[in-house]
Amino acid sequence: MHETLIEGKRLKLRRAHAGDLNYIMTLQYAPENLKFIAPFDEDYQRAIIESDGSERLDVIIEELDTGAAAGYFMLRKLDSPCAEFTHVIIGRKGLGYGREALNLLLEWTFKVRKYHRVWIDCKEYNSIALHLYESLGFVREGVLREILLTDGVYENLIVLGMLNREYNARRES
Ligand SMILES: CC(C)(COP(=O)(O)OP(=O)(O)OC[C@H]1O[C@@H](n2cnc3c(N)ncnc32)[C@H](O)[C@@H]1OP(=O)(O)O)[C@@H](O)C(=O)NCCC(=O)NCCS
Repeated sequence: MHETLIEGKRLKLRRAHAGDLNYIMTLQYAPENLKFIAPFDEDYQRAIIESDGSERLDVIIEELDTGAAAGYFMLRKLDSPCAEFTHVIIGRKGLGYGREALNLLLEWTFKVRKYHRVWIDCKEYNSIALHLYESLGFVREGVLREILLTDGVYENLIVLGMLNREYNARRES
């Protein structure tokens, strides 16, 4: 059984299973995605999939009408009040799936699971992702300077966060 977290108009978010490993690895290593993330290896992903899901989850974004996978992301620190979103990757880009999937994820984390805070980090030059996160209400909280070594170059990460009360205020306004 593939546990559904939440369903929207076009997409649902469901827990990944072993049959999704190939999709997750292919998505991570696709050149258009790889430059924006630090990929996890297959053993790490398998351990998450086989875990009880209380601390980390691999999540598949699935199209409701076709049942096909449209993307993937990972959730961490689920056993704390402050959940982390990471490795957000949309396979079919530019269709509004990133926005819809993140809106669903925010609804699940704040309305269903009542987390206090969620946060994500993002490479400083990833303007599409930064635009998306900020337009959803994430606040830039700081810069982790030269924390990631990629092909011999140290890169900055921007940390963005959202509090439960900020999410609720946006919904009410
Ligand atoms: C970033 C990413 C998740 C966005 O997902 P998506 O489904 O393509 O994005 P959406 O279609 O929902 O669009 C979201 C916003 O980004 C903008 N956008 C999307 N693609 C764009 C592009 N190629 N150029 C400029 N803006 C773009 C859209 O216009 C939209 O903004 P708007 O609503 O203000 O018009 C996706 O591009 C991706 O997987 N990128 C590679 C991996 C990555 O960078 N992950 C994030 C790691 S922190």
